[in-house]
Parts: sequence; C-alpha cells; structure tokens
Amino acid sequence: MSGDAAGIRSVGVVGCGLMGSGIAELCARSGLDTLVHDVDLPAVEAGRRRIERSLARAVARGKLTDAARETALASLAFTTDLADFADRDLAVEAVPEDEELKLGVLARLDEVMQRPESLLASNTSSLPVMKLAAATGRPGRVVGLHFFNPVPVLDLVELVPSLVTDETTWKRIRGFVSDVLGRHVIVSQDRAGFVVNSLLIPYILSAIRMFESGFAVAHDIDEGMVRGCAHPMGPLRLADHIGLDTTLAVAESLYAEFKEPLYAPPPLLCRMVQAGLLGRKTGRGFYSHPGTPASGDS
Ligand code: 3HC
Repeated sequence: MSGDAAGIRSVGVVGCGLMGSGIAELCARSGLDTLVHDVDLPAVEAGRRRIERSLARAVARGKLTDAARETALASLAFTTDLADFADRDLAVEAVPEDEELKLGVLARLDEVMQRPESLLASNTSSLPVMKLAAATGRPGRVVGLHFFNPVPVLDLVELVPSLVTDETTWKRIRGFVSDVLGRHVIVSQDRAGFVVNSLLIPYILSAIRMFESGFAVAHDIDEGMVRGCAHPMGPLRLADHIGLDTTLAVAESLYAEFKEPLYAPPPLLCRMVQAGLLGRKTGRGFYSHPGTPASGDS
C-alpha cells in the first residue's frame, strides 16, 4: 500500500520527551503535517529545542540538506491543548511509560478525534496494546507502534496489533510506516516487551546485577560488549541512554506479565530511579553526562 493509499498526511504526537520529539522529527522529515503536544509551554519549548538540535546535527552530518531542514521545521507545530488533534489522521502517544497516564491520553484522543478514519497508536515499550485499545471507543483502530531511540537514526519500528485490530487499520499503518516513514517493520504479538525489549531488558538487568555485585566495574562491563561483541554502546551506557526510569518501567511490565526472575528489577536500579539518577536525561546515571539537559528537558 502506498503512503498516499494509507491516507495519513497529518500526524499528532503526544509528548515531546526523548521518544516523542524523535517521532515528531521523523514525521516532519517525511513530509507530514506534524502537530506535537506536551503539557505546558516549558515542556513544549524543550521538545522544540531538542528537535532543532537534532535537525542541525543531521545537516552537520550530511544526512539532510539545509532546505530539507527548513521544510521539516515548517511542517512542525506545537500545542498544549489536545483538542487541537481533532483533524489528525493519526495520533501517536509517546508519554512516559505509566499505564494510567497512557490510558488517560488514549481515552482523551478518542474523544477528540471523531473522524471515522482516524487512527490511534501507542509508542508503549511494554504495556498491552489490548488494554490501551480498550480505553477507547474504537479498539479496532488502535495499534502499538514502537520506535527506537534515537528515532532519527535507528530505522526499526515494531508493529503490534491487539487481538481486535481491524484489517484495514493494519494495512494502512503498515503501509504508512514502511512507505511514508521509510522504516523497517517487524511484527510482534501483543506480549509485554514485544520482541526487542524482551531480549534487551534482561541483558541490561544482568549487567546491572553484575555491576551491583562487584563482579566488574561499569567501564569494563561496557567495554567488554563494545570491544568484544561490537555493540555500539555497552549495556550500562545504554541504560543511561534509554533512561533508568524507562528501563525500570519496562522491567516491571515484563516481570508482571511473565513472573520470570530474569525480568525482576535489581535493587540498585530501583534505588537509582528513586534518587532521580535517570541517566543522560538528568545528567547522571551509571555515568556522569556533563552538559546534558537537566531533567526538565527530557
Ligand atoms: N538524524 C539523522 N542521522 C543522524 C542524526 C540525526 N539527527 N544524528 C546522528 N545521525 C547519524 C550520524 O550521521 C551517524 O551516521 P553514519 O554512521 O552513517 O555516519 C550515526 O547517526 C551515528 O551518529 P553519531 O556519530 O553522532 O553517534 P555515535 O556513533 O556515537 O552513535 C548512537 C550514537 C546512534 C546512539 C549509537 O551509539 C547507538 O546506536 N547506540 C545504541 C542505541 C540503542 O541500542 N538504542 C535502542 C534503545 S532501546 C529503545 O529505544 C526501546 C525502548 O523501548 C527502551
């Protein structure tokens, strides 16, 4: 199905933190009319700055022309009022990985986006798509659409249907992701963590347990995987990159679903999140991240 046949030309992204701003940037770079929501003006401004910095980096790296950056910027608009999403063909929620928050956002989008062809998607990392879909009056038109951080760089999207996603929605969204966004699609059943996080999170948790027990220092654990296995970054640095709060939330969802000890969050991860040591987004996690934005800019 071509992007045009998918009939998705306008997108709304709810949340402009790390993931939301990346998704919004990708949509704008793909020529879509893109409206971005966050709760207040400081959050919106932080999201706008993050997108501007990323677009500038893409130009500096030769991935984008100046003209394409200008076009992308002109395709972006920001709001603090979800009622502005009424005319959107698709809304993607990318708010923090908190079940109540996500359920509330989806219910509100369902209320606001009354056009019969409009679609809803969640960038959840781990929550059941069925549960999110059931919070709306249109469960057949809700899917999981899971992106990877940094979104402008990593070209994978996990597509997750719920038990009741309808065939037309599925074809439209699949065509949209591959033909309009140009992302590689893998399909996962609606199980906590989907494919990637079900594999990635136990790996990161093992590294945290290894560090916590004194088995090896953080730098050596990471160097082991970077130099020994050619990973772009080691597991502890990756946890800082993802955000320790998100890592914990995904681990909790996996543990709640499968009750397997390999998904149980290690105490150190819990304590670090309680301490506000969330990684890159707050400037400190397993490493210090000098010069990174303060928590308000995450
Ligand atoms: N737009 C387009 N391309 C960009 C860009 C932008 N804004 N910024 C950077 N790039 C390109 C660069 O040009 C470069 O491309 P090249 O290799 O063709 O030259 C490439 O991206 C790498 O950029 P940098 O050189 O600036 O950065 P590094 O080489 O240090 O890589 C990294 C940084 C991309 C973050 C890399 O370390 C990496 O991929 N790490 C692993 C990240 C990962 O595993 N993410 C998944 C997390 S799991 C997740 O998100 C799911 C969630 O649910 C938990």
